[in-house]
Amino acid sequence: MRFIEWLDDRLQIKSMLKDLFDHPVPKRKLSFLDFLGFATAFSFFNQAFTGLLLATVYKPSAKEAYASIQGIQNNPLEHFIRSLHFWGANFMVVLIFLHILRVFFVSAYKKPRELTWLVGGVLLIGTLGLAFTGYLLPWDQQAYWATTVGTAIAGYMPVIGHYLVSLARDGSNVTGLTLTRFYAVHMLLLPALILAAFGVHFFLVLRQGMSFTEEVAKAKREGGQVRGGTEPFWPNTVWKMMLFVSLVGVALWVLALRFPAGLGHAADPLNKSQYIPEPVWYFFSIYQLLKYFPGKLDVIGTVGLPLVFIVVLFGLPFFDRNLSRKVKKRPFALGTAGIVVVAIIALTYIGYQSVPKAVASTGVKAHPSFSGDILPVLQSSCASCHGSSGGLTVTSYDGIMHTGDDKPVVIPGHPTSSLLVQKLLGTVQPQMPLGQNPLSKDQIQNIENWIKDGAKNN
Ligand code: HEC
Repeated sequence: MRFIEWLDDRLQIKSMLKDLFDHPVPKRKLSFLDFLGFATAFSFFNQAFTGLLLATVYKPSAKEAYASIQGIQNNPLEHFIRSLHFWGANFMVVLIFLHILRVFFVSAYKKPRELTWLVGGVLLIGTLGLAFTGYLLPWDQQAYWATTVGTAIAGYMPVIGHYLVSLARDGSNVTGLTLTRFYAVHMLLLPALILAAFGVHFFLVLRQGMSFTEEVAKAKREGGQVRGGTEPFWPNTVWKMMLFVSLVGVALWVLALRFPAGLGHAADPLNKSQYIPEPVWYFFSIYQLLKYFPGKLDVIGTVGLPLVFIVVLFGLPFFDRNLSRKVKKRPFALGTAGIVVVAIIALTYIGYQSVPKAVASTGVKAHPSFSGDILPVLQSSCASCHGSSGGLTVTSYDGIMHTGDDKPVVIPGHPTSSLLVQKLLGTVQPQMPLGQNPLSKDQIQNIENWIKDGAKNN
């Protein structure tokens, strides 16, 4: 114990801790929701720790990344650590949002905690950045295409969009250079930013006391009493905090064990397997929102709304001059926030629903018939453009056998030289169905078999 005293003579931590532990808090039951920030910090440290371990085996290059993750998948301990990192990322995103909502609801961003809120905004952006850059690292199809979709969104911005995309991708496509760049941002830039911002955030919280102690401070100023009395921070509140974080930790472990992180097929920039790109679930709402502003309106979605979000996020403590912390006295603030939350949930849901699902594989038929096997496929994917009027008509047998001006669309007995198949495979551009999901391999095989048969099974 001599050593501890020796050390404390130099660090003088004991008196600081004593201040913290003796800090009076209201005696009434605290809600677990008051500890969401603490749980968010916990999930960040889980990310830092598991991320560090993963970095000792992961190889950040387009050639080796996928294989190194496969290696991780094959080692039970490494796989568990990766699953913890995977679920931890989801936890961190969800917890930080819940924490922000809670802080908003209890007015904890109001004087004197404006700076704490501002730094919290930096933490939110840093967290989303971590989630976004981390997603690419496994270098599987999902990772590759989510990043292609995600970075492409920046490209819709007028004037600078093009530069932003090439800045993010380090080129015009998502390549190994993008992986290197994302890795650097994921491993160095954002963790450093978050750690620094968190230091300030935490310092401010210590300085001002958590917002539920506001009541105590107010009572002290006014010489009154707190309803239900007060007690020191240690031990009850500390234990409650630990209990909550342990519950979060247990949930994380259970999910990581029960639903381990998966790995899709290796990233293929040509997308030969016709994987349907989709963003990560927490970006579904943005992805969906952008769809409502097509063409020239997309400035609203790419510049306008994000700008409004940033201004509102960082300006909130300054715009909201209503000092009341009572729920009933803040109908406008709480009403608006309620609408935003509902909108985000709804957009996420609609966005998720509208991701084109792969057409169910029907299996390959040796001798398909046109009306039974081919027509339903063409009707669902092609007839919207190639209806029954003029040009190539895919809704009837005669229509599909239509011979174009220069080149026959279908040459019975010769699938590969039929324009129809070439269009489906994309060897002749533009690939059909134009702008929609390509047909599945099985469906194309059926059409080929039908042509091979002489296209005669009507
Ligand atoms: C979104 C509308 C759209 C959809 C859906 C669509 N096409 Fe097309 N298709 C076009 C257009 C436009 C062209 C002319 C493109 C060109 O030549 O540049 C075309 C051309 C073709 C051609 C060449 C026809 C010719 O005479 O030159 C074939 C074959 C074709 N489509 C087949 C299909 C098939 C099969 C599907 C369904 C799997 C499909 N298309 C779905 C719009 C569509």
